[in-house]
Amino acid sequence: MSTLWVGTSWKMTKTLAEARTWAEGLRDHLAQTASTAVQPFVIPSFTATTAVAGVLGEDSPALLGVQNAHWEEAGAWTGEVSVPQAKDAGAQIVEIGHSERREHFGETVATTRLKVAAALRHGLTPLLCIGESAEVKEAGGSSEFILEQARGALAGLTDEELSRVVIAYEPIWAIGENGRPATVAELIEPFAALGAEYSGRITGLLYGGSVNLDNAAALLEIEHVTGLFVGRTAWQLEGYLELLQIAEAHAEAEQIGG
Ligand code: 13P
Repeated sequence: MSTLWVGTSWKMTKTLAEARTWAEGLRDHLAQTASTAVQPFVIPSFTATTAVAGVLGEDSPALLGVQNAHWEEAGAWTGEVSVPQAKDAGAQIVEIGHSERREHFGETVATTRLKVAAALRHGLTPLLCIGESAEVKEAGGSSEFILEQARGALAGLTDEELSRVVIAYEPIWAIGENGRPATVAELIEPFAALGAEYSGRITGLLYGGSVNLDNAAALLEIEHVTGLFVGRTAWQLEGYLELLQIAEAHAEAEQIGG
């Protein structure tokens, strides 16, 4: 089976001191329990990238990411950060197209495509987020909508390039304080659609949106799901470590069960 990717975006939270404390805890945990079945990753705010990189160290089993990056290499783009800059700061992953960026910051399918290409060009892993609104879901168009987002962002990639992509399906109605946790039944069809197109061709197909300690194990059971992308539950280190343990237990059970 494929490695389970379990990671968190901190969104716009944490001071440097908080970031360091969280990262120190993860570093110490991973020093004791190296798992090859689970790939941890953490995506802090830009301000904390180098601090977290420094704490985790170069040989950390955990990957480090940024929550966005511009598609150009450098230049007059006030307020933006380029992929080479993110890489220079220690990032290995670029999160692209989170619904909050699509809703509030003008991210489009066209810009996600440019950003995916930029990340791949520099050897970073694009973590492409896709997800439909409650309205689209109610109209019965979830699978078609998310496939269009994915196809648009990944158009024109070679098989080798596609193999380095991670996709996170995060239905907007399930994300954040105003979201409600998705039921397993609601996720079967979208993951079947994504799996039919991408399973075995990409690095990972994750679920995100109100993942918590009660639903994580069941979410990992869904066919084609190979990881979890988590906000609030993982902002406290204890929550994140418990999620890692749930994923490890899942991987172990899969191995035993074949
Ligand atoms: P929550 O887990 O807080 O719902 O956030 C999910 C998310 O948006 C991760 O990118």
